Amino acid sequence: MHMVFPYLGALLFCASYAASVPNPDNTICTPTGSIPSDNNKLIFIANAWNATPQGFQCISVNSYSTAFNATWQWPSDRNAVHSYPHVKFQPKLLPIVISDISAVTLSASWSISAPAKDLDSRITGMVSNVAWDMFADEDPAAAQVDASAKYEVMVWVGRYGDPKPIGFSSGLCQNQTVTVGDTSFSLYCGSTSSGSRNLTTYSWVANSNVSTSHIDFLQLLKPLVDNNLLASSLSLGVIGFGSEAYYAPENVTFMAQDFGVNLTSKTRGSEAASLGLDMMHTKFLAMIMVACHVFLSL
Ligand SMILES: *[C@@H]1O[C@H](CO)[C@@H](O)[C@H](O)[C@H]1NC(C)=O
Ligand SMILES: *[C@@H]1O[C@H](CO)[C@@H](O)[C@H](O)[C@H]1NC(C)=O
Ligand SMILES: *[C@@H]1O[C@H](CO)[C@@H](O)[C@H](O)[C@H]1NC(C)=O
Ligand SMILES: *[C@@H]1O[C@H](CO)[C@@H](O)[C@H](O)[C@H]1NC(C)=O
Ligand SMILES: *[C@@H]1O[C@H](CO)[C@@H](O)[C@H](O)[C@H]1NC(C)=O
Ligand SMILES: *[C@@H]1O[C@H](CO)[C@@H](O)[C@H](O)[C@H]1NC(C)=O
Repeated sequence: MHMVFPYLGALLFCASYAASVPNPDNTICTPTGSIPSDNNKLIFIANAWNATPQGFQCISVNSYSTAFNATWQWPSDRNAVHSYPHVKFQPKLLPIVISDISAVTLSASWSISAPAKDLDSRITGMVSNVAWDMFADEDPAAAQVDASAKYEVMVWVGRYGDPKPIGFSSGLCQNQTVTVGDTSFSLYCGSTSSGSRNLTTYSWVANSNVSTSHIDFLQLLKPLVDNNLLASSLSLGVIGFGSEAYYAPENVTFMAQDFGVNLTSKTRGSEAASLGLDMMHTKFLAMIMVACHVFLSL
């Protein structure tokens, strides 16, 4: 009889813990739509802005928002980007004036799985990249909207099937190559216009696939400012990480983990938009859940 009370106590504890577990696994297979992380510092965005009826894309996020997958297939028009499934970082320090940035680290690990023949660069296989995508503008509000900002800075850390950055045909921009850590990045620049909008894009393209990185982004931002390509008075408003999907006749899955942005302002302190703390919470929750599971199955 005495045994009932601790049992009930543990049962209630397990039940209340189960109720506090964040949202279950989440998948979106429509061209638009997004999934916010529990701490709201990240948001996972489908962004299939150029979807075709013959293709599809599904994004999925695990329960604790620590891993993100995008499975897609775009079987036509090899040279056009069809989607940019990505995670967007939302530290409260954004927007930030470029001259006020004292440090910014971009972290991520990724991999791509696809049928072997699509990964073989010797034949006509899939086309995609893996890239950070940042937006900036004179107007801090416009800087936070990727459809209205006037400047884009990309950092390409993966290339499959030789996709070309904007301005590639003009050759290296100002002959600039910068080495950050072990990776050499080459700069391309160009612009695209639609309607009244003219977007200038700077792309730093890594010479290899960099599947795990902690990039000191200031080392790539500073040369743009020092060479009068970007004014230091612009505000940086958007930071995202994902994969531009151009072409694949079969399923391709882009997988990303351990993503985060750590931004430090000269005047407003430092902020990490990541799931680092939540990761500890996640592991703790997982331990409790296993214990509860074992207990409830007794
Ligand atoms: C991503 O795909 C891999 C391989 O299929 C799977 O093991 C993993 O659970 C998936 N992750 C998410 C977040 O869907
Ligand atoms: C471009 O840079 C390379 C390597 O730094 C150098 O050898 C070459 O002379 C440069 N070309 C021009 C046109 O400045
Ligand atoms: C867009 O801006 C770039 C860079 O300022 C400039 O070179 C280009 O001529 C502009 N294009 C149009 C159509 O205004
Ligand atoms: C990245 O990996 C793919 C598949 O192995 C390969 O075809 C491609 O050339 C690599 N990209 C770079 C930039 O090395
Ligand atoms: C391709 O992905 C879709 C959506 O995830 C799935 O339903 C389908 O079975 C996959 N096809 C193959 C051949 O794996
Ligand atoms: C973020 O960067 C700042 C400055 O480099 C550093 O002091 C801080 O420890 C970093 N925070 C995290 C969570 O990595």
